[in-house]
Amino acid sequence: MDSEEALVAAARLYRGNAVSKRSGFAVGAAIEDENGKIWGGCNVENSTYGLTVCAERVAIWKALSEGVRRFRAVAVITGAEDPTPPCGACRQILWEFAGDVPIVMATESGKRKQFRLAELFPEPFDF
Ligand code: THU
Repeated sequence: MDSEEALVAAARLYRGNAVSKRSGFAVGAAIEDENGKIWGGCNVENSTYGLTVCAERVAIWKALSEGVRRFRAVAVITGAEDPTPPCGACRQILWEFAGDVPIVMATESGKRKQFRLAELFPEPFDF
């Protein structure tokens, strides 16, 4: 990745846009494409609850819908006590479209953890 700091900073910026009053859990994500451009997203909750979309998927949908197809790294930030990894659905989607990228998990308090997606998502479903 070009700069972990820039990626986490973008995720933090987008966390500020989270639509998360139903859970109270605001998440920001950022994904860096092959040219170093950063795409951000936040979680978007709504009255259906079930149609909530996670920050990671909002970020990658934005990039994919602009024609971007190759990615280098992902960052996720929350206000939790410890870094939180992407949910199972996001792991599947990130695997399918971004492959085995580094995933930086950050907290607003400054904690960080980093894994490659293959570590978080072994034995993936590929079709
Ligand atoms: N959420 C994310 O945005 N990303 C994750 O990886 C885990 C969960 C959101 C979904 C929901 O709006 C809130 O966090 C609580 O689950």
